Amino acid sequence: MPCLGLIAALRPELAAVLDRMPDERRQSVAGRDYWLGHWHGHELVVVLSRIGKVAAATTATVLIERFGVDRIIFTGAAGGLGDGVSVGDVVVATELLQHDMDASPLFPRYEVPLTGLTRFPADAALSRSLLDAAREALANPSGGLLDADTLREFRLRRPLVHQGLIVSGDRFVATNAESAALRQALPDALAVEMEGAAVAQVCHDYGLPFAAIRTISDRADDAAHVDFNRFIEQVASRYSAEILEAYFSKQS
Ligand code: ADE
Repeated sequence: MPCLGLIAALRPELAAVLDRMPDERRQSVAGRDYWLGHWHGHELVVVLSRIGKVAAATTATVLIERFGVDRIIFTGAAGGLGDGVSVGDVVVATELLQHDMDASPLFPRYEVPLTGLTRFPADAALSRSLLDAAREALANPSGGLLDADTLREFRLRRPLVHQGLIVSGDRFVATNAESAALRQALPDALAVEMEGAAVAQVCHDYGLPFAAIRTISDRADDAAHVDFNRFIEQVASRYSAEILEAYFSKQS
């Protein structure tokens, strides 16, 4: 039976997913808790990513090697880089790049040595399904998904769902200078986070479909840390759970 691997970057996100899995059971490997169960009858294994590229790559490799998942979806939060990518919006990756990979002059900047790739493509069909699910789930966030206080507090408008490049690196980007440098070096990057491109690389190595979806929690600038944890709890984890609910309810 096909089995999907779901990697959540955020603890409240994982909790929201487990709330919806009626039969989950835990198995611990390499210090991580893997939760096996079903959602709308679909078999899945859910796990917290841990932070950074190496941690996420280990998490993904165990999902594949030990639990035999046949595709992986990654959810979480990210800093917005692209014009018009605002807090509360959602980005579905079309491709992912490690912005801190630099083995030049031996290899071109950003190229992962011996792969010939700077950008790892997300699976088109899986990403399309997530995009449709996100559009459906977030069509009306004031219709019960978020309360009025939360919408006001974070000044949220109706979320836009973007599609494009997500970049990953082992740094929380939290200064205007660093986000400006990233935007200049990688003008088509929509969002920055700390794990996605590593998991994309692992899935590429194993030939497995991969998709990533992130809620924008900040603009990767001097104000990036403000209210981060509350945003994750009150907004990003709810968005993830609703998007996944829409995704699993549509899968046959
Ligand atoms: N995840 C959420 N916001 C981020 C940021 N500004 N930098 C890196 N990862 C993030």
